[in-house]
Amino acid sequence: MAANWDILWTNARIATMAPGAAKASGPAGAAPYGLIEAGAVAVAGDEIAWVGPAADAPGDAVRACGHVVDCDGRLITPGLIDCHTHLVYGGNRAREFEMRLEGATYEDIARAGGGINSTVRETRAADEDALVAAALPRLWRLMADGVTTIEIKSGYGLDTENELKMLRTARRLGAANPVTVATTFLGAHALPPEYEGRADAYIDLVCDEMIPAVSAAGAADAVDAFCETIAFSPKQVERVFQAAAAHGLPVKLHAEQLSDQSGAAMAARHGALSADHLEYLSDADAKVLAAHGTAAVLLPGAFYFLRETKLPPLAVLRAHGAAIAIASDSNPGSSPVVSLLLMLNMACTLFRMTPEEALAGVTRNAAQALGMADRIGTVEAGKRADLVQWRVADPAELAYRIGDDPCAAVMWGGHTEPRP
Ligand code: NIG
Ligand code: FE
Repeated sequence: MAANWDILWTNARIATMAPGAAKASGPAGAAPYGLIEAGAVAVAGDEIAWVGPAADAPGDAVRACGHVVDCDGRLITPGLIDCHTHLVYGGNRAREFEMRLEGATYEDIARAGGGINSTVRETRAADEDALVAAALPRLWRLMADGVTTIEIKSGYGLDTENELKMLRTARRLGAANPVTVATTFLGAHALPPEYEGRADAYIDLVCDEMIPAVSAAGAADAVDAFCETIAFSPKQVERVFQAAAAHGLPVKLHAEQLSDQSGAAMAARHGALSADHLEYLSDADAKVLAAHGTAAVLLPGAFYFLRETKLPPLAVLRAHGAAIAIASDSNPGSSPVVSLLLMLNMACTLFRMTPEEALAGVTRNAAQALGMADRIGTVEAGKRADLVQWRVADPAELAYRIGDDPCAAVMWGGHTEPRP
């Protein structure tokens, strides 16, 4: 029976990023980047129907396909995945940037009522339309970098109504754009001012009121928390994780960003999809992450912007086979970043990742960090047809250039639309 293909992109170099691709470059291993030379990828509906060397494509299916695109030797990769962002917020924190340049630390500013809580004030004051309008240009900029899936967290509302407002805003951004939006409830991001000195009571509210409300509304795909001296203790976070589990929601954690609380290992033991930041992760806990299959999400934008000098334990994560993802952490305080390609460059220059590891970090491993590895993250038959054509020949060029605009075309679940 002839396959029914809607679109065929042919005459391309395809970095499939299929499993094994980022580990092997020796002669016996898989091709780096899972590269297919002179390749073709066929799409039926919203799925990849076939991928391989164009010469091997079944002739009857090629002839029957109504829409064949000659990619002129361009590179194709999976659509990029930004698996950790705080894209929805009111206002900005440029003034705090100035304060930090004058010597204040991120923690000083947070303890003085600035930091996350200053964004909470502005986010509470904004209605949903205003939040959508503020987030759209940031989203479009990321989409122009080939991002086809983005995770967006709440965490600047810090009461039930405003957390739900943020999650609805994130869902609206997904509904109004071809990009896939995964939402994460981050109620345990910071202690809101009205709960000053009553952190456990706020955690009660998160567990007993917010998570049930978020779950009932179907507003979030996962639950996150911030485990840190300026935020919540591992014990408090564990309560949040238990409430999430009771509502069937997967968990993840901001861990070891400013100090070692052993939060990542605790999260891994709770079956977390990912632990994120990880500059202060111990070698022992890096092994725990790898052993539990919890993705390690590294955020070079926050490392850079906070002028952090402590590096995440990349060698240990690598040696134990942890899935290492990279994300923008796009947020007003610690990473006002709207380019995922810049994060590839920073992952290489700052963390000494290879360009191949960095690309795996925004494709296959980012999919794992979102629990979506069965649907997205590689160019393989059966996956969602989220694909990018790039005006580069070598995949390492994606991590190499800074401030370039190499994205030539994007396919979103089988549809090509003009880039925003
Ligand atoms: O991922 N670490 C906590 N949360 C954010 C920062 C949020 C903010 O400063 O507004 C982060 O870096
Ligand atoms: Fe974050």
